[in-house]
Amino acid sequence: MRKPATTTASKTTAKTTAKTAAKSAASSKIVRSSKVDMTSNAKAEIAGLLNARLADGIDLALLTKQAHWNVKGPGFIGVHLMLDGFRKELDTHVDEIAERIVQLGGIALGTTQTTAKATSLKAYPSETIAIQEHLNALIERYAQTANLVREAIDAADEAGDAGTADLLTAYSQMLDKSLWFLQSNLAD
Ligand SMILES: [Fe+2]
Repeated sequence: MRKPATTTASKTTAKTTAKTAAKSAASSKIVRSSKVDMTSNAKAEIAGLLNARLADGIDLALLTKQAHWNVKGPGFIGVHLMLDGFRKELDTHVDEIAERIVQLGGIALGTTQTTAKATSLKAYPSETIAIQEHLNALIERYAQTANLVREAIDAADEAGDAGTADLLTAYSQMLDKSLWFLQSNLAD
């Protein structure tokens, strides 16, 4: 008897769903008691959400240095120094996000392995040198990160977690400002 045409597709979907579930189980796990006055469901939801944004933030911090080191072309020194400033600010926000996860009782996932698995960003082109190409690659990733943070602010608000929403709002402002700086280096 012929197998149904959907067998392979169903298997793939089941595999993907299982992988996603396993990933989100670790990222939203509550492992320590916390007196923060929120339901355990809300804490787990926000921890998962913050771990997703933490992975993006660490990835963005790493690729910002990749560009800082390798960029070449007219306007080099301005872009080189600007990117170092972005990295410093990103490190502060990444730290705030990770510590918020722990305050809620979760585990902050910040290794290269967990980051590589969980990041939403496309792999950064590691051999890029030209300033214009770096700027375009950075703009794409800063914009995507900022948009995902905006969604996370709404989710935190809906979960009644004003502390997380506030922390993410500050991060979102930094990302939007960086995006403006990046775009201002491009000709119209
Ligand atoms: Fe440097």
